[in-house]
Amino acid sequence: MSTERRWPRVVALTGAGISAPSGVPTFRGKDGLWRNYDPQQLATPQAFARDPKLVWEWYDWRRQRIAPCEPNAAHYTLVEMERTLPPGHMAVITQNVDGLHQKAGSKNVLPLHGDIWTVRCVECGYRAEDRRVPLPEIPPHCPRCGGLLRPDVVWFGETLPYAVLNQAFAVAQAADYMLVIGTSAVVQPAISLAYVAKNHGARLIEFNLEPTPLTEDADESIFGSVEETLPRWWAQMKARWTTAAKSS
Ligand code: APR
Repeated sequence: MSTERRWPRVVALTGAGISAPSGVPTFRGKDGLWRNYDPQQLATPQAFARDPKLVWEWYDWRRQRIAPCEPNAAHYTLVEMERTLPPGHMAVITQNVDGLHQKAGSKNVLPLHGDIWTVRCVECGYRAEDRRVPLPEIPPHCPRCGGLLRPDVVWFGETLPYAVLNQAFAVAQAADYMLVIGTSAVVQPAISLAYVAKNHGARLIEFNLEPTPLTEDADESIFGSVEETLPRWWAQMKARWTTAAKSS
């Protein structure tokens, strides 16, 4: 067997919990509340159509909260996995829009729910990175046509970017290990990727502070804060896989 075949294919499916130790508020935790609004009520096309200023004020607040945040040990562990495994053997599928995986240095990142640092015009489709915090104008307008800009994220009730989702299903099907990290595991279709991987033979390992709806289907659940549990798990697996690869 070639050395390459000895290394497993690993997919990490991440949620807000991986960024929580970096100071990014989660969605369903108490720290996700803003002016007593539930994020699930604001992250919808209906809320934006009704009151774009309010929705943008919330996004501006989130952008201000995220801007100074740095990746933590869990993000960096995924970078190290990518660098250790053979090319193409590691993918990060994320529900997060904070950009911390990319900031840490992960290359193969599939952002299922978009990117909070990109704006998109609802009229002409103009799309651009915009990292200004706070935004000088709320709601912001398109520099090309004057239309309303929106955050380039996926809201409840919207479809996910087709190409990204397609690729996510492909890597999930090919995975030997599916690591589900810091997600409440309640949002579809993201969480179905964990089941796709499991049904195709992957070992399903969950990292969370507490049990989730996925726990009973996981092969292993590792409870604790991800910036501690993930590096510890990886140190063990790296040693094991390196030995296996050398002996092949
Ligand atoms: N270590 C491990 N797990 C953690 C930590 C931590 N330090 N902190 C929080 N968690 C876990 C929580 O226990 C919870 O299960 O992370 C999860 C966060 O859940 P949510 O806030 O629901 O976030 P997420 O699962 O990413 O939400 C999915 O829903 O609102 C939408 O589009 C939004 O992408 C988001 C999606």
